Amino acid sequence: MNFKPITMIPLRVTSLYPPLPTVKPTMAQTRTRTLHSDPSQDSDDLLCSDSNNHDNQQEQPEHEEPSSLPETASSSLPSPRGYLSGEARAERAWAHWTKLGRPKLIVAPMVDNSELPFRMLCRRYGAEAAYTPMLHSRIFTESEKYRNEEFATCKEDRPLFVQFCANDPEILLNAARRVEPYCDYVDINLGCPQRIARRGNYGAFLMDNLPLVKSLVEKLALNLNVPVSCKIRVFPNLQDTIKYAKMLEDAGCSLLAVHGRTRDEKDGKKFRADWNAIKAVKNALRIPVLANGNVRHMEDVQKCLEETGCEGVLSAESLLENPALFAGFRTAEWIVGSEEISKDGNLDQADLLVEYLKLCEKYPVPWRMIRSHVHKLLGEWFRIQPGVRGDLNAQNRLTFEFLYNLVDRLRELGVRIPLYKKDADDAEILADDLAS
Ligand SMILES: Cc1cc2nc3c(=O)[nH]c(=O)nc-3n(C[C@H](O)[C@H](O)[C@H](O)COP(=O)(O)O)c2cc1C
Repeated sequence: MNFKPITMIPLRVTSLYPPLPTVKPTMAQTRTRTLHSDPSQDSDDLLCSDSNNHDNQQEQPEHEEPSSLPETASSSLPSPRGYLSGEARAERAWAHWTKLGRPKLIVAPMVDNSELPFRMLCRRYGAEAAYTPMLHSRIFTESEKYRNEEFATCKEDRPLFVQFCANDPEILLNAARRVEPYCDYVDINLGCPQRIARRGNYGAFLMDNLPLVKSLVEKLALNLNVPVSCKIRVFPNLQDTIKYAKMLEDAGCSLLAVHGRTRDEKDGKKFRADWNAIKAVKNALRIPVLANGNVRHMEDVQKCLEETGCEGVLSAESLLENPALFAGFRTAEWIVGSEEISKDGNLDQADLLVEYLKLCEKYPVPWRMIRSHVHKLLGEWFRIQPGVRGDLNAQNRLTFEFLYNLVDRLRELGVRIPLYKKDADDAEILADDLAS
């Protein structure tokens, strides 16, 4: 079953699909851009993440091409979804999921970190779908600058789930309409546990106001042409979680990602995700369900799919350190005890950083995102050569030239930490297992 195409009048759509540069861009000098110049923006509103490890550099590569989103479609479009029975809606949800190729290996939404070049890097290394970072629905509708800086995609960037935080159905719909031609789901963030989300009354704090959550989902489900998905955290009590998930399904959610930690379990390193709770949700619902939490290498993927019965997994934190995770590579931390059956994968995080930087030259993003990825990818390398990290931190304005040189310097200093392949992660065996 296909979702009815929407009639759009795109404005400068080409900027969303940046052409391959015919000439390699010159090494960019940088300039500072403030993201907060729009008076309607509360600077705090712009951040929501499970990690406190973000720098706030607001520069942007100079060669950034102006981009803008199309005008929104008329809000009086007939709904293709209407009031269908639960069974018909589930059937429709599955048809869409199947049309997308039933992706199993998915890049989780990450503020400042699951941006276009990073998504493209992960896709090169096995990711089958990806979420954007959370976008703030109100600011997205109000500020063209915010839209241009925070949302970019290209035609290879599919399947794509665009995530918003929201607490007003009308505003959410307005924001969603702007992105629906470029994505496969519009996702509602119901899991952000940060203080900023409490203050802004969105994310996991909407768990205290389920009628509002219901109205957000219904609004999108009844009015959008792409399906709506939700990403939730679990309640401390399993029955509450199941009731919540069923409510979302009844409201029109077509795909549910369940992060198996509660709102209070913010630290992913400290609290294990509860895969049993995810399994219970999966068993209670008719729509496709995705599992999130504690997916650190391909063996975890396999175990998680087996234990939860879910359609796919989302990985976040581990992908930041190792964007090649879904291609079967693992960091040294995950071969401890099985060194004899692990081998150097002939790929390392510096190689991946160089690939990422090249993607950033092609698809420009704010420098604060690039800086964040450099720290996450080379964290272990900097532990061996802290002076290099010091030089990076001292650099207020980054350039690609500086970053490529930084990688060369680490290599000249003899630092190399390989990514490993374990026999059990053999891509073909896993592909067979995962397909079955
Ligand atoms: C840097 C960072 C940013 C995140 N931003 C978002 C976000 O924008 N939206 C969201 O739903 N979850 C966000 N999360 C949470 C992740 O999507 C994921 O639910 C969580 O990290 C658990 O997965 P993991 O165990 O694989 O890390 C973020 C996590 C990290 C580490």
